[in-house]
Amino acid sequence: MKKIISMILCVAMLIGCVAAFTACDSKDDNKLVMATNAAFPPYEFVDGDNGFAGIDVEIAQEIAKKLGKELEIADVEFGSIIGGVQSGKYDFGMAGMTVTEDRKKSVDFSDTYATAVQVVIVKEGSQYASFEDFYTGFDADGDPTGVKEGIKIGVQQDTTGDIYASDVPKKWGFGKDNVIQYKTGADAVQALLTDKVTAVIIDNEPAKSFVQVNEGLKILEGEYANEDYAICVQKDNTALLNDINKALKELKEDGTIDKIVAKYIK
Ligand code: ARG
Repeated sequence: MKKIISMILCVAMLIGCVAAFTACDSKDDNKLVMATNAAFPPYEFVDGDNGFAGIDVEIAQEIAKKLGKELEIADVEFGSIIGGVQSGKYDFGMAGMTVTEDRKKSVDFSDTYATAVQVVIVKEGSQYASFEDFYTGFDADGDPTGVKEGIKIGVQQDTTGDIYASDVPKKWGFGKDNVIQYKTGADAVQALLTDKVTAVIIDNEPAKSFVQVNEGLKILEGEYANEDYAICVQKDNTALLNDINKALKELKEDGTIDKIVAKYIK
């Protein structure tokens, strides 16, 4: 009987320990957890055995240093970053993330640290040489009235490229039915190489990276949309937001951000 009681006590203590440990683990004040989607060169990518690299990764490391914290990176699907920041699972999200009115309803954004444009990648020798070429005609305002037969646009799921492409032709979209979503931009580019899609809509710098490493692709002239990148934090976490903005300002002023960008964008 004694033996059984001490065994039960042991098990209970063990459960208690595990619970305490888990609770502790999610509230490590020395760590700053950044959620990203590391398939977006030159902003974030996995650099062979060297681990995570890219503009966002290096800026985040500098911010963490200034806050006296250790940076931990969670590489997740792009579409789950905002939800994870909202719930407090991650301290902040940094993923070449565009500030949009819709996202602002879920998270708060820092000051912007980069600008970007959405561009269109096609195969070299594609019959589509401009944005206009994708559409059947235009109304009196010059806006498209319909999408040509058989056009499929590849995008990374939940990105602004996805949001624009899925919009109606009138707004220079292609309609949801003509858009194919992929887990990463790289997957969308693979689909273009194997003729599963007609074009890919994605941010300009990743587009340049993908075109550089894959033969037979080109970026169409023109800018599909202008955007600002910023870091997102949980709504009303003003303490962290202020810390991040202060760090960003210092890093901009002392030239650190320019230096990091110059390392990755020639
Ligand atoms: N700028 C776009 C957006 O915010 C695409 C970002 C994709 N980032 C990534 N790390 N995969 O929707």
